[in-house]
Amino acid sequence: METMKKSVLYSREAIRQRVLELGEEVSKAYENRELVVIGVLKGAFMFTADLVRALSIPCRIDFVRLASYRAGTETSGRIELTKDIEIPIAGKDVLVVEDIVDTGLTMKFLEENLKARNPRSLKVCAFIDKRLRRKVPFEADFVGFTMDDGFVVGYGLDFDEQGRFLPDVCVLSQEK
Ligand code: IMP
Repeated sequence: METMKKSVLYSREAIRQRVLELGEEVSKAYENRELVVIGVLKGAFMFTADLVRALSIPCRIDFVRLASYRAGTETSGRIELTKDIEIPIAGKDVLVVEDIVDTGLTMKFLEENLKARNPRSLKVCAFIDKRLRRKVPFEADFVGFTMDDGFVVGYGLDFDEQGRFLPDVCVLSQEK
């Protein structure tokens, strides 16, 4: 990745602003409810940390880790839950916080897995929605940014474990 060109797509300031707006939207939707936020590791760790700090309502926080096997930048469609939540969610309002919805396969898998535990409600907040790339229908309830195509790193997102630490979201391209 070091040899690839990176250009800033969403600056840290644009991200900060959008996360504050999302925090308001989510807080309104869950007023007087028992919210459990489930962050999806590793990609959504920064987004989850920022989003919960932008909420004006209390919440409990847990994490799942999903392994979706990818060849380069394309998903294989094989998904596994490698770390489960520790908080019971039956009867609770659950908000899954995900980095990117791409083909939709990962969120479809997680949605089915969590729904089987009978939460009161289950919604998804995606930092980025790549709407045009779906292989299965999936609609996120709250979306930070939408992009058509391209591969991004930074703000928790990686390419082969590189680039997660970057504070801005950058597009990768082959030219040097
Ligand atoms: P899906 O199952 O195809 O929707 O895959 C979603 C997952 O693929 C995300 O949680 C990310 O981990 C990964 N992903 C998809 N696009 C990108 C990208 O542009 N940068 C980094 N990771 C991505």
